[in-house]
Amino acid sequence: MAEITSGVVRTHNCGELTASNIGKTVTLCGWINKYRNLGGLYFIDLRDKYGVTQLSFDRFFNEGHTVSELDEVSLESVIKVEGVVASRPEAALNKNMVTGEIELQVTNFKMLSTSDKDKLPFLPFGQIEATEDLKLKYRYLDLRTNKLQNILKQRSEITLKIRNILNEENFIEVETPILYKSTPEGARDYIVPSRVHPGSVYALPQSPQTLKQLLMIGGTDRYFQICKCFRDEDLRADRQPEFTQIDIEASYISQEYIINLTTKLIQRLFEFDKRFSIPRMSYNEAMNRYGSDKPDLRFGLEHFEVTDLFKASSFSTFESIANSSGLIKAIFIPEDLGTFSRKNLDQFNNIVKPYGGKGVAFFKVNEGKLSGGISKFIDKNLISSLNKNLDNEENGTWLFFADSNSEVTHACADIVRRTIGHDLNLITKGYKFIWIYDFPLLEWSEEQNRFIAKHHPFTMPKESYLDKFLNGNKDDLLSMPAEAYDLVCNGYELGGGSMRIYDQKLQSKMFEVLGMSEEEVSSQFGFFIEALQYGTPPHGGIAFGLDRIIMVLAQTDNIRDVIAFPKTTSASDLMSKAPSVPDSKQTHELNFDWLNS
Ligand code: AMO
Repeated sequence: MAEITSGVVRTHNCGELTASNIGKTVTLCGWINKYRNLGGLYFIDLRDKYGVTQLSFDRFFNEGHTVSELDEVSLESVIKVEGVVASRPEAALNKNMVTGEIELQVTNFKMLSTSDKDKLPFLPFGQIEATEDLKLKYRYLDLRTNKLQNILKQRSEITLKIRNILNEENFIEVETPILYKSTPEGARDYIVPSRVHPGSVYALPQSPQTLKQLLMIGGTDRYFQICKCFRDEDLRADRQPEFTQIDIEASYISQEYIINLTTKLIQRLFEFDKRFSIPRMSYNEAMNRYGSDKPDLRFGLEHFEVTDLFKASSFSTFESIANSSGLIKAIFIPEDLGTFSRKNLDQFNNIVKPYGGKGVAFFKVNEGKLSGGISKFIDKNLISSLNKNLDNEENGTWLFFADSNSEVTHACADIVRRTIGHDLNLITKGYKFIWIYDFPLLEWSEEQNRFIAKHHPFTMPKESYLDKFLNGNKDDLLSMPAEAYDLVCNGYELGGGSMRIYDQKLQSKMFEVLGMSEEEVSSQFGFFIEALQYGTPPHGGIAFGLDRIIMVLAQTDNIRDVIAFPKTTSASDLMSKAPSVPDSKQTHELNFDWLNS
């Protein structure tokens, strides 16, 4: 269907006029991107989100106006021009631009809105000379760049495709409340005080988890929502406090359905061919081979578990870790991938510190000779056992990660693997998807001295472990897998989901295992537990991080690039200066007068 044109001020945009329009009278609007005064002849590059068109003005361009008036114009002012499309002089042809063969000979010019050239913080095109903070403060200027406009468009197209695909599969989109109750997803809540109920608060949803399950109990059967979620957690390059999920839930399904639905979604969104499928890897295998539950499979450098090899080692640090149920892992970097100076190797010690690591041990192999680092502790037997992990005995560097806490060993070996992959340019192009499945149901929190749910408390234990879940001891609970799965691509967790508990007793038991008292359960989740007793269809689902999917598609490693108005890593909005101190009228109404005292 044709676009509506009546009421539209411009006849064309700045990126579409070509030689086929020569002779036509047209109207364009946009920002002044560039201007040049060539003594009497005046040129402006007019820009909008679609492109740039060259405007030419001769001194008679407009009755009652003179070109000298144009000297008053400033970059980023918004103008409207009318004129005739003409071919450019031979010398001015630009084959690299859609509009490179033409110019608009202006017959009428109107300044719609001036830009203050003395104050303009930066020019939003070309190589932008501004810090990240300045760009965030003037986000609306940064949004004028091609890069951000293209990503916004891509994001809009992707969400439209998602809606269409889910519609084809019989899903309906249902909106759920933002002012709600705590929905535990492992972060802190953002809370909103109630004026009508002094002293009470709403929590913004960390995800609509309980709500989508209640929709299943309510008979909705196939639900989705592209929704905002709010989590007060430490921010990283792929996390925002407020982000968007593609949230999905369905009744009477198994994991297989979620896998098939996800495969269809990803195949269509990434435009893969029909044979596309996503390989699977268990959580334990991912941890053993990559030290991470979101491994980046675009490069090798797998981890080897070598704990047993050091049980009788003369290197006492490793020997004691090996004999006290710690974990030792190794990575081998063949010489043809890269070599490391002493300085590089020392830097690994700094890289692992934030992950609790004390250092990275190493030695080098050259024509069978060992040197450097811990080489004096590596005897013939040990090196030949290490070499069994390799296809060929090659020259290269062995790195070792050891800690009495296996989580620390995994995390250190993971960060060093990723750093080397990046620094040695080992990361191949393209997308490497993987399902990670059989996640542990629970993990023990030393800090809180209790179990916490690895995914969330509504996740079903793996069916064959249900008896153990109901009757088992702490060790049984620790080693128990859940009906939970994550979708990973290029080292990003793009989505996560699970089959849900749909039995009231099992759900109550889960809250008990998580150390919640009956009162806590009743005040936080009483409504939910109650709902489970009136006939609950078995159900499960998944939520994808829309921002992360767009990040991967747009090939950016910063989540801020894919969000129109993002927050900084300290969760503030530099443009509006949110969060801010409320005014005294607001705090008085909310019984928070102390905030202004
Ligand atoms: P989960 O907590 O794994 O699961 O979240 C699902 C997906 O949301 C994205 N994500 C984020 N993206 C940006 N910034 C954040 N702070 C952030 N946190 C999460 C990730 C993640 O994989 N209710 C469950 C889903 C379910 O069980 O169906 C949930 O929210 O891509």
